[in-house]
Amino acid sequence: MRRIDRIVILTGAGISAESGLGTFRDEGGLWAQHRIEDVATPEAFARNPDCVHRFYNARRTQAAQAEPNPAHIALARLQSNFPGEVVLVTQNVDGLHEKAGAQPIHMHGQLSRALCASCDHRWDAPPEMHVGETCPACHAGSARPDIVWFGEMPYHMEQIVAALQTCDMFAAIGTSGQVYPAAGFVEEARMAGAETVELNLRDSDMSHAFQKHIVGPASKTVPLWVNRLLA
Ligand code: OAD
Repeated sequence: MRRIDRIVILTGAGISAESGLGTFRDEGGLWAQHRIEDVATPEAFARNPDCVHRFYNARRTQAAQAEPNPAHIALARLQSNFPGEVVLVTQNVDGLHEKAGAQPIHMHGQLSRALCASCDHRWDAPPEMHVGETCPACHAGSARPDIVWFGEMPYHMEQIVAALQTCDMFAAIGTSGQVYPAAGFVEEARMAGAETVELNLRDSDMSHAFQKHIVGPASKTVPLWVNRLLA
């Protein structure tokens, strides 16, 4: 059996579900309540920035009140104590991995950050953002949430792909496998010869691509999985 020195972990909204944050595509999820085209595209922001700010202001308030659950805490423990490398890539924008003490790569941005649509400067977002807020660098009135919207390129892709190409194990936790490029990471890791494992409440659209499946709520399955890796 191949020795596990480098692990890449991808997390999605499911890991934060037990912290009280709704997922996107489960029953009654965010995308059942809001249309993606109204709140999560650059075109939506150009058309109705107030609506987009209200959507992300609500997400920011909820995330600020949420606490990491045992799954976030276990991944932070793994990152600190694993003798090899653990690259934690998250699609989540809620900041709960950091609150648990981990150091994630944020491929879809962060609610806690603002981005200038004119000059790309980034800064800490206030609790509420409003239309016309100015950029502290170029003073244009085009501040937006630092979130990667549909039609935009996720962040840190070079670094992530390099990690996938050299990993020995790839794990996807609480993600539906419906959004690319994240949904394609398992294939990239398989091409590198990595062992692949999916941890999810149920089968996802990408389940067939994984060798191992650990089914159950992340707060229970992730700490046990981490214990085995650290044993
Ligand atoms: P989804 O809402 O698409 O999927 C959530 C996944 O978590 C599902 O597969 C659930 O089965 C699983 N799940 C729910 N509760 C769980 C629990 N307690 N334990 C373990 N698994 C659980 O969320 P994502 O896959 O993260 O992008 O969505 C990917 C991207 O689509 C998001 O980053 C967001 C969204 O549109 C942007 O906004 C750019």
